[in-house]
Amino acid sequence: MKAKLAAIGIAALLVAGPAAAEGPSRDHLLGLPPVPVPADNPMTPAKVELGEKLFSDTRFSSTREVSCATCHEAGKAFTDSPRRVS
Ligand code: HEC
Repeated sequence: MKAKLAAIGIAALLVAGPAAAEGPSRDHLLGLPPVPVPADNPMTPAKVELGEKLFSDTRFSSTREVSCATCHEAGKAFTDSPRRVS
């Protein structure tokens, strides 16, 4: 369940970006096809906010020291990290 929520969280981040829960899609900026959003589970600002929180939540790691954001730095397009290897 937690992994599913985290996946939803990063999907929300990738779809909407940290600051834009609504408004025009940014998919074209990433060069990605539109992410499908189920009609019975629409994207909302609350879900995007939850995704942002989960992405930085260290409680998902066994040591409670690592979050998704530890390796996926938003300032580096989520692609880089200060570490040499994963
Ligand atoms: C310890 C570092 C680390 C942490 C923590 C981490 N990731 Fe990653 N992640 C990576 C690395 C390295 C890759 C690239 C793996 C590869 O290409 O084989 C990756 C790849 C990904 C990808 C695929 C990106 C692509 O281009 O296909 C997604 C999505 C992703 N991570 C999401 C997450 C989420 C969500 C979390 C938190 C639940 C998370 N990651 C936590 C290191 C990390």
